[in-house]
Amino acid sequence: MDFNYSSLLNYYQEQNFNPVPINVEEKSLWDDHISKRQNLYQRHLMIPVPFFNNRSIIEFGCNSGENALYLASLEAKLTLVEPNDQVLSRLKSGFKKFGFERRIKALVNKDIAGFESDTFYDVIIAECFLNQLSNGEEMFLKICKFLKPGGLGIISFDDRYGSFLEVVRQLVLKRICQLKDVNGPYSEDSLNLAKSLYGADFKKINASRPFKAWWKDVLVSPFVSWTYLWTYQQFISLLNKAGCEFYSSSPKWSSFDHFSWYKNVPSTKNRHQQLLEDWYKFFPFFLSGIPCFREEVKSATSDIVEGVSKLMKMISEYIDNKVSINTLLYPRELDNYLANNKKTELIRFNTEIKTIFNGLKSDNIDEIISSYHNAEYVRTLWGTPCHYICFMKA
Ligand SMILES: C[S@@+](CC[C@H](N)C(=O)[O-])C[C@H]1O[C@@H](n2cnc3c(N)ncnc32)[C@H](O)[C@@H]1O
Repeated sequence: MDFNYSSLLNYYQEQNFNPVPINVEEKSLWDDHISKRQNLYQRHLMIPVPFFNNRSIIEFGCNSGENALYLASLEAKLTLVEPNDQVLSRLKSGFKKFGFERRIKALVNKDIAGFESDTFYDVIIAECFLNQLSNGEEMFLKICKFLKPGGLGIISFDDRYGSFLEVVRQLVLKRICQLKDVNGPYSEDSLNLAKSLYGADFKKINASRPFKAWWKDVLVSPFVSWTYLWTYQQFISLLNKAGCEFYSSSPKWSSFDHFSWYKNVPSTKNRHQQLLEDWYKFFPFFLSGIPCFREEVKSATSDIVEGVSKLMKMISEYIDNKVSINTLLYPRELDNYLANNKKTELIRFNTEIKTIFNGLKSDNIDEIISSYHNAEYVRTLWGTPCHYICFMKA
């Protein structure tokens, strides 16, 4: 990258943008927002929303507070911790407009590292940023200390393999910007190019934020790169250290508790091990977002997973101007694995991704754009970049 930012917060403040400005001002938009949050909590994470009533909840990195507004509407007692003072006026005016100001017990303008308290909470929340901190693992362990025994934690992280398609989209944009000599990743030219590549497809998904915020927070963000992407393996090991147990996830993918008799009680360690073994069976789902059932695909091997990780690392290095485009090779193990399975969607996914990779080697911008635009199936896929996990303190 041509710019250096010392932290995620520094990036948001220097670039002066709100990464997740969710529009909730009109009734229909508010209704849409709460139906998405309810779907997340209740159907995906399996937390009936009346659970939040009167609970003490601390949310770190709440940004301008749109998600906290929903918890306020459920009569939760909120402590909000947000280091970016640029977003606090929107947060305050939102709570005022909805008449939920008294639901905020404390609003603290600090980051996790600077936050201290001897209070324990029923619920802790940290969505969409922990993995982007240089000390994210340490900060995760710190926030778990504020959780009461039996309390629930809800966090989300950008998954390394789930972010495959986002990283490929970063790559296509970067390659064209490089060939066109676009003046910096944050320029209007870069935004316009991104719109011409991805704008029409982005409009078709149920995103909550505008394209421009997604472009800046994902496509050209220096904090969406290999170094910052977490894995389930890494996260489960953190849960073990924090004395917490996996409860649920969104997207839901694992069926490791299914078909077992409740009187056969596994230890937390065994449940976590089973979850990670299951993970290999669903690897193609992580990469592509295509639903995969056990009988349809074989488990991935560690060679296949390692090959994808290496490729993604190289892509991030290319985006950082450290290696040339010719060093990016589509992994043979992945190609064999996807090409030789029963699921036609995965075969098509593999063929189209390979075509995009081959197209990128050309110096002809129109050829690159058409190889991306012709990948009609891949264009409808967004992988599974953001994984929510709910867990319980022992
Ligand atoms: C991508 S936004 C997510 C906002 C909100 N949680 C959501 O999911 O919509 C990341 C948020 O984390 C905040 N943040 C960045 N660094 C932080 C830190 N070290 N401690 C706490 N919050 C931080 C940012 O200011 C921003 O509000």
